[in-house]
Amino acid sequence: MTVHRTTLELRKALEPLRAGARTGLVPTMGALHAGHEALIRRARAECDVVVASIFVNPAQFGALEDLDRYPRDEEGDADLAAAWGVDHLFVPSVAEMYPPGFQTWVDVEAIAEDLEGAGRPGHFRGVATVCLKLFTIVAPDVAYFGRKDAQQAALVARMVHDLDLPLEIRVVPTVRDEDGVATSSRNAYLSPEERAAARALPRALEAGAAAHGRGEDGAAAARGLLAGEPLLDPEYVQVARLDGELYLLAAVRVGRTRLIDNVVLEGEGL
Ligand code: PAJ
Repeated sequence: MTVHRTTLELRKALEPLRAGARTGLVPTMGALHAGHEALIRRARAECDVVVASIFVNPAQFGALEDLDRYPRDEEGDADLAAAWGVDHLFVPSVAEMYPPGFQTWVDVEAIAEDLEGAGRPGHFRGVATVCLKLFTIVAPDVAYFGRKDAQQAALVARMVHDLDLPLEIRVVPTVRDEDGVATSSRNAYLSPEERAAARALPRALEAGAAAHGRGEDGAAAARGLLAGEPLLDPEYVQVARLDGELYLLAAVRVGRTRLIDNVVLEGEGL
């Protein structure tokens, strides 16, 4: 595996590999875990050349969010990425991605307004812009996203469609720890008590899905369960259609940490 820090270096390395080869891209913000592993292994199975990026994208963090304390472990990440089958790891600096004078942004409109977008203004503008930049730099045939961030995956798929970008978006199922909690770089923030409380989130979503299956209000059922866990402060618990599939999605605060999760109620991801 080769590590590249500049766009020019990465482009030069990929150029000779393109002819007849299928290139897969896995964009990440690092602090790699089993969720990232699933995306990378899927790319490895489906592509000839696997590129992953690690970039803690300041543009998608709000002023009061966790940009400064976001977990960073480049060496450990590089070892994992190599072991999981990445060929080229792109680790640009902030100045490389947003040089002085940068002023061009991508706004995907309606999809970005609700759910995560409601509580995190500007978040999806940062996500869409950095993803478009990565797609332009790497020119992948396929890019891999996790269902854990279903709204993000739907928004990126919408941008790809709207801007006629020549790549496919693949959405990979959510990877969970044994206790049901979705793996996330932000889980590292949780104290043991908070981590135990976080189990209520997937449980509530499962109970909501079961209620939906019985023709009841899934969001109300999930909210009811979350109310029984005093350490969790729900931000939203909502049923929404994303990219043709019906989801029950939730964001909760546990102490200073914000966690999101979802389950598919109706659709292919079920
Ligand atoms: P990050 O949170 O590092 O996640 C990178 C990718 O891994 C995303 O597509 C995310 O949905 C996926 N992922 C995270 N946890 C997962 C889990 N438990 N199961 C399956 N997939 C999981 O999402 C981002 O970074 C950024 O917004 C990014 C797309 C890189 C743009 O900056």
